[in-house]
Amino acid sequence: MTELSPVTQNPATQTQATKAPKAPTLPDAQTVTSVKHYTDRLFAFRVTRPASLRFRSGEFVMLGLMQTDEKSGKEKPLLRAYSIASPSWDDELEFYSIKVQDGPLTSRLQHIEVGDQIILRPKPVGTLVHDALLPGKRIWFFATGTGIAPFASLLRDPQTYEDYDEIILTHTCREAGELDYGRELIETIRSDEMLAELIGEGFHEKLKYYPTTTREESAKMGRITDLLNSGSVYKDLDVEPIKPETDRAMICGNLAFNLELKAMLEDMGLEEGANSDPRHYVVEKAFLD
Ligand code: A2P
Repeated sequence: MTELSPVTQNPATQTQATKAPKAPTLPDAQTVTSVKHYTDRLFAFRVTRPASLRFRSGEFVMLGLMQTDEKSGKEKPLLRAYSIASPSWDDELEFYSIKVQDGPLTSRLQHIEVGDQIILRPKPVGTLVHDALLPGKRIWFFATGTGIAPFASLLRDPQTYEDYDEIILTHTCREAGELDYGRELIETIRSDEMLAELIGEGFHEKLKYYPTTTREESAKMGRITDLLNSGSVYKDLDVEPIKPETDRAMICGNLAFNLELKAMLEDMGLEEGANSDPRHYVVEKAFLD
């Protein structure tokens, strides 16, 4: 389990917390338990989990903050869809967010501190779930930017390792620092004792991680779409090309990326699945402010 260091802990909130635990006062409120800033564009945070919330790894919920309505002057929630980045067995919920300086929600959300409250509607939904895929031998998780969040959940779910012989996570970002969250995640998974106990020692050898950048120098440069087209990915990972008989895929990133990769998978013979009609791949947009 990833423990985020509470880097933005507010001394005022700490003092309050030692006197008496602050009870949530808003409907659907949850309390922030840690915040970690990765770059000036990205941060992750953890919150308490509603006792009634059950979800499937890969799903998203609506979360946000209260804001004052300009016309009526009344307080109302401003919510956005956020993939749950923590696995379904975790006591808390983790989220990974972009910071948009003039974005209605993230311009404020990026300043949350331990002890603050956020609004979280406990109604998880989404298509990036194991139930939407037919059984296969290998699964690809294709992400750009914060699109890695649902895969952070799925990669910590024992079912992923039970269902597949090989799991490949690709993550494309503009800059090298934007890969840190994913790199930490993979390191944590590789040393996860609970997964080792459940799946067996060496379970992490099933997992291949392929990070790339497009606008700053890193070990591997290029868009994943180009690297698939050129065959570079298969060569670098020493794996067979994607085919519908063996491969399953989940896509989560910006819209142009989702559409391009979807078309490529269709050309390879894979068909899009849904909860009610499982097939070879599923797509979800990384939700931006
Ligand atoms: P690029 O830098 O070449 O645009 P963003 O931060 O804009 O959401 O982008 C995240 C990553 O996704 C960037 O590395 C970006 O590459 C890449 N990307 C954007 N559009 C596509 C696409 N159509 N196909 C593949 N990768 C894309």
